[in-house]
Parts: sequence; C-alpha cells; structure tokens
Amino acid sequence: MADQKKILCVGLVCLDIISVVEEYPEEDTDTRCVSQRWQRGGNASNSCTVLSLLGAPCAFMGSLAAGPVADFVLEDFQKFGIDVSLVSEHAQCVSPASVVISNIRTGSRTILHMNRDLPDVTAQDFSRVDLAQFKWIHWEGRNAGEQVKMIQQVEKFNAQLPDHQRIGISVEIEKTREPLYELFPYGDVVFVSKDVARHFGFDSPEAALRGLYPRVKKGAVLICAWAEKGADALGPDGLLLHSDAFPPEMLVDTLGAGDTFNAGVLHTLSNGGSVQDALAFGCRIAGRKCGFHGYDGIREK
Ligand code: ADP
Ligand code: FRU
Repeated sequence: MADQKKILCVGLVCLDIISVVEEYPEEDTDTRCVSQRWQRGGNASNSCTVLSLLGAPCAFMGSLAAGPVADFVLEDFQKFGIDVSLVSEHAQCVSPASVVISNIRTGSRTILHMNRDLPDVTAQDFSRVDLAQFKWIHWEGRNAGEQVKMIQQVEKFNAQLPDHQRIGISVEIEKTREPLYELFPYGDVVFVSKDVARHFGFDSPEAALRGLYPRVKKGAVLICAWAEKGADALGPDGLLLHSDAFPPEMLVDTLGAGDTFNAGVLHTLSNGGSVQDALAFGCRIAGRKCGFHGYDGIREK
C-alpha cells in the first residue's frame, strides 16, 4: 500500500549541544546559561524527527561514528520510531557536533559546527537501498556529486513505474557552497535557502525564485523559505505561490525551523496535497516550532 511507504531523508545527523541564554554573550566573558541540553541534530535528522511527530513513517540514511555520542543519537532516533536500518557506522571516525547558542529573547540560534572526518553516504551505499519501500526521498545537499548519482538511480527506478507509483524526489540547497548548485536540475522539488538566495544577489523569495527557476528541471517546483516572511514557491505554470509565516506568541527557538518547514512540505506533498497547502502547512508547523524549545511541541493537539 502506498500509504505505508516511508519518506527517506538522506543527510546529516550530529549532536547539538545547546546553551540557552537570555542575552548573547560578550567575547571572553564567563556567564551562566538558562539551561543546557543535548539534542539530536542535522537537517535530515531533524526533518525525520518532525515527520515522525506528524505520524509519517520515515527513515534516515546517513553516517554515524561510534561511542557515547553515536549511542545517544541512535537511542533518540529509536525513541521517535525513525527507521535507522540504512545508517552506516564508521567506528574509527569522530561524531560531528554543533555548539549552539540559543537566545531566548530573540529566538536566534548561533551554530558552531564541526565535522572532522565522518564521510557522507555514497552512491554505492545507496545502491543497496530497497527503493520499493519509499514514496518520497529527500536529500540534504552535501556531497552533491554522489547525490546526483543516487538521484539518477531513483530516476531509473521510477522510469519503469506508472506516474502514481513513482518516488517523489526533493533536494535542499541550504549552504552557500558552489558544488551544491549542481543539485538544482535534480528533484521534483528543490528547496533553496535564504542564504543561497542572498549569495546569488536576490533580496526576496520572489526575486530568488524567478532568478533561480531556470536552473531546475522541467516541471519542478522551487521553494524558498524566508524566516518571518514565510515561504514562496514557483512551479512550471509560472505562478508564484506564497504563505505568510505563522509567528508564535513568543519567539523562543528557531533552531531547525527550516528543517521543520521542509518536513511539513514533504508530508503534505507525499500525501498528494497541493504546493499551496504544503507551503501553508510547512509555515504553520515551523512557526509553531519557533515558540518552544526542541521539536516535541509540534505534535498537533
Ligand atoms: P532556517 O534558518 O532554520 O533555515 P528559515 O529562515 O528558512 O529557517 O525559515 C523556515 C520557516 O520557519 C519559515 O518559512 C517560517 O515559516 C518559519 N520561521 C522561521 N523564523 C521565523 C520567525 N522568526 N517567525 C515566524 N516564523 C518563522
Ligand atoms: C539545524 C541544524 C542543526 C545542526 C546544524 C548543522 O538546521 O541541522 O541541528 O547542528 O543545522 O548545520
């Protein structure tokens, strides 16, 4: 049954060591935080967290080192019922981690990320995936060259299926790294970040979508989220779609807002919803997420 098919997110899992502060610290000072916590992080991993909270069966594919951090991460995946059977272990590597300063006054998150030597998933790893289990596969843009080869495997698989049974393909281009731009022409849905849009000289989601649309493949939908401005999308019909943001009463924590938005969009589209509905739902849950720490409060009451 198509309904039982999972959404697969391919990308990073890391440890987020989060210090919540009431004021952003001055350099070379010694202050107390409001609280500190460990949280499983990484874009693809966060999107899986949100998908599982929304009740969508999902799987994560990425790399993991060994040791206490990896154990924490794996246990947390399991707590959320996220399928980790495609995770590959690299026992000799160091777990990637981020130190995050989360400012409770403004909701801002300042991230210091380190990934020393953990390799990304390769096209060869991906060739072992039983694609029939999935209705949608999302790639967080990382090792683009390999990811293109993975997407081509899915395109080949899709080519022998009727339209309604094909696996949806999405990619996220979040970081301003030249090699990632190779991913634009892949994916039925392409998420491009505000950072990348600005890097190309666009100062609004509308301008970014119009300017970058020629890079996507025929028929694709390009989506650009823009914090408190909400999100826009542009498809093959040339009509610009928009959803306003849904700001929470108090902006508390924007860490992973984009990953939450992406999960909301994937959830809607993979259930056959429209792009307009996907934008609105993505913004609604991402806005809600900004009103509390972590992701647990996303579950609809
Ligand atoms: P990130 O920086 O995590 O990638 P984005 O800026 O792309 O996040 O925002 C993703 C979505 O999260 C936005 O489309 C919006 O719906 C929501 N969002 C983010 N920041 C805010 C905010 N300050 N107020 C309301 N909604 C927000
Ligand atoms: C949030 C996030 C964090 C992680 C960082 C990696 O979007 O995935 O969980 O530390 O970005 O860049």
